[in-house]
Amino acid sequence: MERRSLIQAPRELHTPRLRLVWPVPEVAAPFAESLNASLPALRFIHWGQHAVDVGWAERFCEGGRALVNEGDCLIFHALRRDDGAHVGRIDLHSVDFHTPRAEIGYVGDVRQSGQGLMREAVRAVMDLGFSLGLVRIEAISEVDNTRALHFAEHALGMVREGRLHHRERDAQGRLCDQWMFAAFAPQREDAVSARSTAR
Ligand SMILES: CC(C)(COP(=O)(O)OP(=O)(O)OC[C@H]1O[C@@H](n2cnc3c(N)ncnc32)[C@H](O)[C@@H]1OP(=O)(O)O)[C@@H](O)C(=O)NCCC(=O)NCCS
Repeated sequence: MERRSLIQAPRELHTPRLRLVWPVPEVAAPFAESLNASLPALRFIHWGQHAVDVGWAERFCEGGRALVNEGDCLIFHALRRDDGAHVGRIDLHSVDFHTPRAEIGYVGDVRQSGQGLMREAVRAVMDLGFSLGLVRIEAISEVDNTRALHFAEHALGMVREGRLHHRERDAQGRLCDQWMFAAFAPQREDAVSARSTAR
């Protein structure tokens, strides 16, 4: 996979209930408001430990646009089509262009939870990643982030591959264990099910 595939990727996606846009300046204020309203649910997110202001969100979005323009990652903010409310932020990062694979990250607005909106948004970004050539997308969650574990396995249908011991420090600075989840490009899914049918 070429870096230019990411640089040339769409900056806007549409799903039945959502519009996903890259981090344009207009999303900064609703993003900050959404993060502040969701703080109690963000204890696993390093940059979700303190209330933020719009200036912080503008700089965060500006940094995100630079990363996307350089082909380092893809970043989308999901907005409801009906009322424009900020639903969440999704990014495909840590791209290995040779394999090619990437890791997906997501942070949703707690007030929109349980409606399948984050599922819709994350799956749209995963579909885009696979259409650009990724063969594997990983999600890595701390072992006590029960909401995220359930989401990866049940809402996204990812495979729980294994426990990663002391891989990182958590947002509070403690060494933590994480679970590795993965989803695979549709061609591989087809190949795996064809093999198991043949057995
Ligand atoms: C992980 C996270 C993004 C999950 O978000 P969410 O808001 O729960 O996501 P969804 O609403 O899409 O979850 C799917 C649920 O909606 C339900 N749902 C309701 N209507 C639905 C519909 N029309 N279509 C699909 N699912 C629907 C599903 O049944 C599912 O329910 P369940 O959780 O009881 O099984 C969110 O908890 C979060 O942001 N956590 C904090 C940040 C974080 O820790 N991120 C992970 C870092 S690794």
